Amino acid sequence: MRPISWDGATLNVIDQRMLPAKVTWIPISGWKDAFSAIREMKVRGAPLIGVVAAFGLALETKRIKGSSINATKEEVRKIASILETARPTAVNLKWAVDRVMQAIQSEDSADGVRNRAIKEAEWIMQYEENTAKRLGEIGEKLIHDGDVVLTHCNAGSLATVEYGTALSPIRLAVKKGKQVRVIATETRPALQGARLTAFELMKDGIDTTLISDTMVGYVMSKGMVDLVMLGADRVLRQGYVINKIGTYQIAVLAKRHLIPFYAVFPWSSVDMLTEVGDVVIEQRSPREVEMIRGRRIAPKGIKIFNPAFDVTEPELVTALVTDRGIVYPPFEKGLEEADKKQYVSADMHI
Ligand code: MRU
Repeated sequence: MRPISWDGATLNVIDQRMLPAKVTWIPISGWKDAFSAIREMKVRGAPLIGVVAAFGLALETKRIKGSSINATKEEVRKIASILETARPTAVNLKWAVDRVMQAIQSEDSADGVRNRAIKEAEWIMQYEENTAKRLGEIGEKLIHDGDVVLTHCNAGSLATVEYGTALSPIRLAVKKGKQVRVIATETRPALQGARLTAFELMKDGIDTTLISDTMVGYVMSKGMVDLVMLGADRVLRQGYVINKIGTYQIAVLAKRHLIPFYAVFPWSSVDMLTEVGDVVIEQRSPREVEMIRGRRIAPKGIKIFNPAFDVTEPELVTALVTDRGIVYPPFEKGLEEADKKQYVSADMHI
């Protein structure tokens, strides 16, 4: 299920807040649409928000007319720096916007800037699709016939362009005839597991059981989980995995029960430069915690804490599954070597 549609002129995305009840497509015609879609989580998932930001910026270049080519580029740069702040944690957003900015630098006309920006956004979309497919091929080998895989949040095609990150190996394993079952956590507060992962996997006919986040320890202690596979919004050079809130407690429990813990992500989620203490963990509205789907569940006035992501230490991670191969500890060495390799997109056609 592709959450994004581009026909060469117009971009539409599925409003994921409405899923699974309704599939509603909304247009993205420039940076403001992209910014609000990302900020309000109409689109979400690290790779997808990068793609949507890139197109938002590229489409906006049609409207920008500076007094000179440098003035035009300066206008684009200002918009890029606002777009990057729509959500602070997934590094894919900055990666994608920076790529568009980099791509237009050598252009010397407004038309050139527009065409180049659109081409780069298309490249990024194709890259994320190719990469997700590759993640499936690489990660599928870690899943054995009969395994039960626990996943968290939504790391499926709705978080990317197609296939997914952590769900891509699961999909391929099932396609190859392996008997694989999935346990999906509901993922409070935004319920991406219950609304999106359950929806996607059921649509594909994959045997999936939904649990609340509080049940992870129980299912692990009962021997019901063989491995954990989930995505990442940012992975640091030492192997810190920054992902949806709740990931850290799953990793701690997996270690306690000797269950392999794999994070599956494209190279666009890798941040080799930032130190762990400098990563901004997005804080979201208290409403997401005190309400469920618009209905109040907590008393008015209660204090709320709502960080959207957490940090899992490298010691808790069995391996990092990337489109450049599987990286085992020590992660810093493996990630530095992989960082020298090419993006998967080198052999793609657009
Ligand atoms: O807040 P979200 O829904 O954008 O968070 C998404 C996740 O944490 C996913 O697990 C993640 O993007 C990694 S897989 C694409």
